Amino acid sequence: MITDLDRRAFIAALGGAAAVSLMSDEAKADALESHLIAQASAPEAPAAGKFPTMAEIEADVPNHPTRKGTGNLFAARAGNVPRLERLPERPTLADYFKLRFTATSNHCLQSANRAMKNGMSEEIILACLLHDTVQELIKVDHGWWGAQMYEPYVSPKVTFAIRNHQALRFYEDLDHGYRYPDLYRRMFGSDYKPEPYIEQTYQTVRKHKWYLEPRMVTVNDLYAFEKGVNPTLEQFTDIIGRNFRQPKEGLGFDGSPTAHMWRSIAMPDHPL
Ligand SMILES: [Fe+2]
Ligand SMILES: [Fe+2]
Repeated sequence: MITDLDRRAFIAALGGAAAVSLMSDEAKADALESHLIAQASAPEAPAAGKFPTMAEIEADVPNHPTRKGTGNLFAARAGNVPRLERLPERPTLADYFKLRFTATSNHCLQSANRAMKNGMSEEIILACLLHDTVQELIKVDHGWWGAQMYEPYVSPKVTFAIRNHQALRFYEDLDHGYRYPDLYRRMFGSDYKPEPYIEQTYQTVRKHKWYLEPRMVTVNDLYAFEKGVNPTLEQFTDIIGRNFRQPKEGLGFDGSPTAHMWRSIAMPDHPL
């Protein structure tokens, strides 16, 4: 349920009532969705710039019906989960974007759009386009899950970027234009230190010849809904065509090692 307070915060985030009145219904729906994602994945906004501590975030765990690492498709952000439209028999990446990546697509399209405007390579643009889509299935360790899901269909450079954007986001690199985001102070706690496996990944990736691939995903990643920017998947059709191996049997039905992950997104209502 959207409370009055939610509504006011939402309108303020979009630049006020006048700005909202200029938006199309579609843009408003997208904006509301992004706003709800941000709210669902972040604890209550701290007063006057104060961020919660790790202990406060941990104490808040039993106040929610689902865990924070649950995929978007598996828990309603408000009320109950909606019925899902069936995918075509041989679903393509575009079908998943339109019918299943509904909570993450706008954020990913905005990141890819920014990467394109910044003149990034096609592989980095594709990595930005795909980087958070696996959060429909699972959020915890999403860099690793996402890279694995896409491994049979994209180049190793693209999976390297998707896998490691997660660890790199915890480490500032001002020389390349990446600042640690306040969003993480809210989500993980003001006193959060990445676990040893994250630190180890960072140290390895920092020295890797492909370091800039995941770093550029973090640089072009966005932390909040960008007002009035609504890129479409069609902008990226050619890049997808050249860099994504669409299986003719459809994603989920090609017998690849990660087909079950696609099927779980296609049919999340199967009880087993
Ligand atoms: Fe991410
Ligand atoms: Fe992201």
